[in-house]
Amino acid sequence: MQQFSEYKGVSKLSSQPQAAPSPLGVGILGSGPVTQAIHLPSLARLRDILEVRHVMDVDPNVAESVAARVGARFSTTVEELLADPAVDIVAICSPHQFHAAQVIAACRAGKKAVLCEKPFAMNGEEAAAISAVSAETGVPIIVGAMHTFDPGWLAAESPWADLSGQVHTVRSSIVLPPNPRFEDFATEIVGRVPAPSRGPMDDAALRAMITGGVMGLAIHDLPLVRRFAPDFASVEVLHAETVNPFGYLISLRAGAVAIELRAAMNSTWEPAWTFEAIGDNASLSIDFTPSYVHAGSATARIRRAGTTTVLGPFGHNGYEGEWRRLADIARGTAPAPGADTLLHDLEFALAIAGAAADRAANPAPAPAPAPAPAPAPEESMA
Ligand SMILES: NC(=O)c1ccc[n+]([C@@H]2O[C@H](COP(=O)([O-])OP(=O)(O)OC[C@H]3O[C@@H](n4cnc5c(N)ncnc54)[C@H](O)[C@@H]3O)[C@@H](O)[C@H]2O)c1
Repeated sequence: MQQFSEYKGVSKLSSQPQAAPSPLGVGILGSGPVTQAIHLPSLARLRDILEVRHVMDVDPNVAESVAARVGARFSTTVEELLADPAVDIVAICSPHQFHAAQVIAACRAGKKAVLCEKPFAMNGEEAAAISAVSAETGVPIIVGAMHTFDPGWLAAESPWADLSGQVHTVRSSIVLPPNPRFEDFATEIVGRVPAPSRGPMDDAALRAMITGGVMGLAIHDLPLVRRFAPDFASVEVLHAETVNPFGYLISLRAGAVAIELRAAMNSTWEPAWTFEAIGDNASLSIDFTPSYVHAGSATARIRRAGTTTVLGPFGHNGYEGEWRRLADIARGTAPAPGADTLLHDLEFALAIAGAAADRAANPAPAPAPAPAPAPAPEESMA
């Protein structure tokens, strides 16, 4: 198994033994299934660098019982958690409609860094406001699109550098069981909100499923897609439809790159999450571990005429990767992602979500049937 260090390039050789810095304090806003099944297990493996010190949820029973699992204090308001001097890093894991206001409040509270679960905003105005406050306060933000922190993807980054100019096709394909199945394997969830029952698929429901699919699921891979489709302002959705019971099938173009986004959340027994970038002379294919699963990193394969380079799997996944990066950013030993990157990733996702919802609601007319071929001239039997 190959090893990969996210600390590459920041360690220094010294003859003096250096005392390990004390762990940074973490405060979590919103303590639902994602906090319980994703972040707490990841943080439990990183106790030497990060310590959960404060847990907040609007439901006091959830806040108290989740805090008790990790020996943290709990509260029910954003203000109480942000006023806690033991909290250096704030993770925002509340429902998405609260993300923008909570990210802004955490920046204004002068914390060392903020992790916001995806999507970090639901429109361009919110995203621009977040980016402006981060620039003004100097508080770095990262978004929990975990694949961008997966060691399998990161290891493939430099070997595929020469691939980016030649890619003509990008595919993100996701087949997963519903989230609660993974959540229940990971931990005993307290305070789960039952999924709302779905009525018949009217226009609004159709748009909501496409928008929710892009902003909630495809968004994990869209920053990767954008690396190969830099002309993101020219998104044209050619086809979009929903998949039962939850999913999407979207075909689009960004500049000269053809992009396929597929997802199905059904009763599948075998989850699969693949990302592919296909060029004229080479291709990149990545098998990611599914959301919630703590079983090491993705495996990347780069194929060029006759050779395949396999990178990974490495010991940890993108969730742990995002926390390691956050600790480095908060300590000033790694750069924060540029505000432009976060903004453009979100604009790309919003453009696809909007155009795909429009396309699903107004499918392109089926092409006219091809004219029947003219009868072949009778052959001479002579
Ligand atoms: N990274 C991933 O793989 C992944 C997977 C699924 C969901 N998510 C994202 O994580 C976030 C949380 O997901 P979830 O499934 O735990 O959500 P959820 O809605 O089930 O639970 C969120 C928790 O937030 C609490 N809450 C409600 N309003 C709040 C407020 N104003 N402030 C603080 N807490 C509040 C609720 O009581 C609940 O306990 C969402 O943004 C979601 O998009 C990420």
